[in-house]
Amino acid sequence: MTRSSRLARTPDRDLRGKVVAITGAGRGIGLATAGRFADAGARVVIGDLDDDVAAKAAAQVGGGAEGYVVDVSDRASFAAFLAQAEALGPVEVLVNNAGIMPLSPLVEQSDESIDKILEVNLRAVITGTQLAARTMLERGHGHVVNVASAVGRIGMAGGAVYSASKFGVVGFSEAMSAELAPGGVDVSVVLPTVVATELGAGVQAARGMRPCKPEEVADAILSVARRPRFETWVPAYAKGIFYSSNTLPRRARDAVSHAMGADTSLSKVDLEARAEYERRAGR
Ligand SMILES: NC(=O)c1ccc[n+]([C@@H]2O[C@H](COP(=O)([O-])OP(=O)(O)OC[C@H]3O[C@@H](n4cnc5c(N)ncnc54)[C@H](O)[C@@H]3O)[C@@H](O)[C@H]2O)c1
Repeated sequence: MTRSSRLARTPDRDLRGKVVAITGAGRGIGLATAGRFADAGARVVIGDLDDDVAAKAAAQVGGGAEGYVVDVSDRASFAAFLAQAEALGPVEVLVNNAGIMPLSPLVEQSDESIDKILEVNLRAVITGTQLAARTMLERGHGHVVNVASAVGRIGMAGGAVYSASKFGVVGFSEAMSAELAPGGVDVSVVLPTVVATELGAGVQAARGMRPCKPEEVADAILSVARRPRFETWVPAYAKGIFYSSNTLPRRARDAVSHAMGADTSLSKVDLEARAEYERRAGR
């Protein structure tokens, strides 16, 4: 039996009482995801940069959720966060969700901004996966869910470094899925389009699409944790649009993207609406 047919026959995983650690869960998609896992009876461990934000999020989520400070771009901090989660029980699911999206044409972007995007969005996913996988492999089970983005499959002007980081997450996740599967550990990737969070402020969804709610992404992540599969897009139909247009020659694909206004999603943004987010992400 192949791995996918085995998964198709396996009943949904019961998450009640299971420890689920979610990075960047003080706001946005992570916070909504923490809520969904808590509602499913999981023991949720929230990590975010700021003590206040993490504690408030844990109180809001309820269900015994804990909130801790973590800077995922600092290996020692990430290790301490996972140790705090392990103290509550074996971490069954790690959701690598923390991410930043400072937008800028590359020629105007500072070295600091480039490094920070790569450290938070890609290097930290590698760190978290490595740290979590060590204990998960010892136990012979566990699941790492990496939150990438549709721009982890489609490069977009105005967000080249962000795109590069998310392409990295998709490629890394694919390789890790193959590497960890024999040890009983699943790796999945979730690719949302535009989501109505602070990170997505001032970004237009492509024509014919609307910004998703963070809860829609949270539902997708919960569903992936219950029934592991490698690649999940939010909304689900975006996957069909991507893979069917990807079979077209490059010029036709670019024309589809242009007709949908997708080619300027990250370059024609509402700078005023993004000003507060860009300040926070740049700190
Ligand atoms: N909003 C979108 O349109 C969208 C689309 C596709 C993918 N995503 C991805 O979804 C994930 C969540 O994004 P969001 O929209 O909820 O953003 P958000 O800014 O609303 O929330 C992200 C959270 O991550 C935290 N964070 C940032 N850097 C961190 C660090 N070094 N250590 C720990 N926590 C850190 C922030 O403090 C914040 O609370 C990101 O990986 C993002 O790239 C978002």
